[in-house]
Amino acid sequence: MLLVTKVSKRYATSSAALFSGITLKVAAGESLAIMGASGCGKSTLLNIIAGLVTSDSGSVVIDGQETSGLAESLRDAFRAAHIGMVFQQFNLIDCLSVVDNITLPARYLKRPYQQRLALLLQSMGLEHKQNSAIGDLSGGEQQRVAIARALIHSPKLILADEPTGNLDEATSDTVADCLFSLAKSHGAALVVVTHAKEIAARADRAVVIKHGQLEPLTNL
Ligand SMILES: Nc1ncnc2c1ncn2[C@@H]1O[C@H](COP(=O)(O)OP(=O)(O)O)[C@@H](O)[C@H]1O
Ligand SMILES: [Mg+2]
Repeated sequence: MLLVTKVSKRYATSSAALFSGITLKVAAGESLAIMGASGCGKSTLLNIIAGLVTSDSGSVVIDGQETSGLAESLRDAFRAAHIGMVFQQFNLIDCLSVVDNITLPARYLKRPYQQRLALLLQSMGLEHKQNSAIGDLSGGEQQRVAIARALIHSPKLILADEPTGNLDEATSDTVADCLFSLAKSHGAALVVVTHAKEIAARADRAVVIKHGQLEPLTNL
């Protein structure tokens, strides 16, 4: 589903490469956790996979489509149709209700969403909050809205950047349960960036970015 081959990145403002020759593979229905010290390039790698940041070299292939070479407008369209993103800072739209935030990607794509919306509201425990304003929600509830929005259009690939980063342990557990089980039951490939070992341990595989390279993590 996702094949990243020999991807390298150096920001123009930095003298050293952030990472070089990173290769990874995630199958449909499989989950991968990416760990590593703050600033090692986890968000950059996720954004390269999403096509939001360009790499210096290497390729990203998603569901058979090489996305790294696509023109920006095609890459944006591809991302909207096939990728669900959970951003670290949620990126929810404050002037829209919970339901309108969640359904936005599906409405943009003109895809039916009623059945899936009901399922997501139920599994995220958001049924009673569906008409609330975003500002009236707790951090944990906003995080679950962000996850539901990433899943509403049945993406083949879900990219989540520290999806439990701002949550207390109990909420973090519930949110992770939802994210991992929904991804698996929908056969989506899931890439989760996380600091939390408990979250990484839930993934089928875990890797760490160290000295600009990807290393497998086994003893979680
Ligand atoms: N747009 C950018 N331009 C220049 N440097 C950046 C940019 N984005 C991130 N960086 C730098 O690249 C490094 C890795 O950042 P990031 O990918 O956000 O790391 P992580 O998510 O692992 O904390 C940091 O040193 C950060 O300051
Ligand atoms: Mg980050």
